[in-house]
Amino acid sequence: LRERDMAEHGGRRWQLVLISSPLQGHMTPMLQLGSYLQSKGFSIIFAHSELNPPDPSNHPDFIFLPLPDNLSGTGIFSGINQFLKALNENCRPHLEKHLIQMINTQKETSEKESIVIIYDSLMFFAGNLAGDLGLPSIILRSSCAAFLPSYWIIPQLHQEGRFPEMIPEFHPFRYKDLPFIGLPIQEVLDLIAMINPKIPPSAFICNTLECLEQSTLTQIRHHYQVPIFTIGPLHKTSPTPSTSFLEEDTSCIPWLDKQSPKSVIYVSLGSLATIDAKIATEMAWGIANSNQPFIWVVRPGSVHGCDWIEFLPEDMVSEMKVRGMIVKWAPQKDVLAHSAVGGFWSHCGWNSTLESVCEGVPMLCQPFSIDQMMNARYLSYVWKMGLEMVVEREEIESAIRRVLMSKEGEEMRRRAMEIEEQVRVAVTHGGSSRNSMNDLVEFILSL
Ligand code: UDX
Repeated sequence: LRERDMAEHGGRRWQLVLISSPLQGHMTPMLQLGSYLQSKGFSIIFAHSELNPPDPSNHPDFIFLPLPDNLSGTGIFSGINQFLKALNENCRPHLEKHLIQMINTQKETSEKESIVIIYDSLMFFAGNLAGDLGLPSIILRSSCAAFLPSYWIIPQLHQEGRFPEMIPEFHPFRYKDLPFIGLPIQEVLDLIAMINPKIPPSAFICNTLECLEQSTLTQIRHHYQVPIFTIGPLHKTSPTPSTSFLEEDTSCIPWLDKQSPKSVIYVSLGSLATIDAKIATEMAWGIANSNQPFIWVVRPGSVHGCDWIEFLPEDMVSEMKVRGMIVKWAPQKDVLAHSAVGGFWSHCGWNSTLESVCEGVPMLCQPFSIDQMMNARYLSYVWKMGLEMVVEREEIESAIRRVLMSKEGEEMRRRAMEIEEQVRVAVTHGGSSRNSMNDLVEFILSL
């Protein structure tokens, strides 16, 4: 910490050990959080699995600690429970050894030092380890805050044998919006039992905003009785250089420069979702028949049985290229911030949702799993800046036209811009997210 702060805190130093999971949508907010805390003078040790490591050159002042994960092909697609179990079991020994070394060095040198663990909720072993070693721990939630109540609501509904269309104690969510609800129920219950913290953390940090999730946040605060810091959206409160695992195709920016304002539909299903070639073909027809300019991100390997876009007939590719671009990975935040983009067709991952909200871009919602159904519900039903759609060519064609060209689309854009303004206020000096960031620093210093 800076000299003055250190003096105020009895010459004590703080070492923050951040433990990130290897998922794009989780590592990005952890790196952003680390950058912010580092700017406040804390030293950052960034622990991560060998799978999907971050680029150290973007964060020269962090100490990176790779954790041997021994995953040998156990990818997330082998089943989420199995993947998380292996990841957590395999990453623990190395981190444990490292933390014990840190604690021993502290004792030997009698340095006044505090070690605080901040971990991704998917790296739940870190919470147990912190408890075993007597270290304080804080959880970073990189999805919507509404994910948390599902830890107790899903088991409760299951126990009572209730599967209501609307869940009265969890307004505005429906049973079908609950996380992971497409999986067999026993798998969902096992997953919740696995990630629900065994040892209560000292606090939660949520990449969300008070204005977006007020009633849920009240519910969570009541349930956990520990501080909940709402410091989002982190890409605005603590922007960092690109954290993409894949190379961004920046050629879409000069292409966007040539398009009319609000005319382009941007299509991306995030870093995890995979689809059948049949669905991908429906998407292609819908995009082509809408006759609107587009950028379509087809992540390599995201269409079953294809390396990239082999599911498209050659002549369709050349026809589509007249009106738009198909890329492997886009500089998404820059694309959404571009004045030519009029709509975002998304899987509604939480980062994508926040990025669209921050730029006032209305959305077409195609949620797959995890918290995406909840985010889609927020977008369409609560914030009224999103349209849920069926993935079928005529429906897609009509949805794209509705969002880009109709009165309804204009109204969604107006709502999106109102929310964008609320976010702008929250992240500027004196706003709720800024205040929460300051409170977080004070809280860590008090541990
Ligand atoms: C996952 C889950 O899907 C999501 O529901 C959860 O909230 C976080 O983890 P992911 O599928 O990666 O996330 O989606 P999302 O949260 O939207 O994150 C994707 C990130 O990749 C965004 O920050 C987005 O800007 C970036 N991205 C995506 C690109 O930079 N380029 C692209 O072409 C596509």
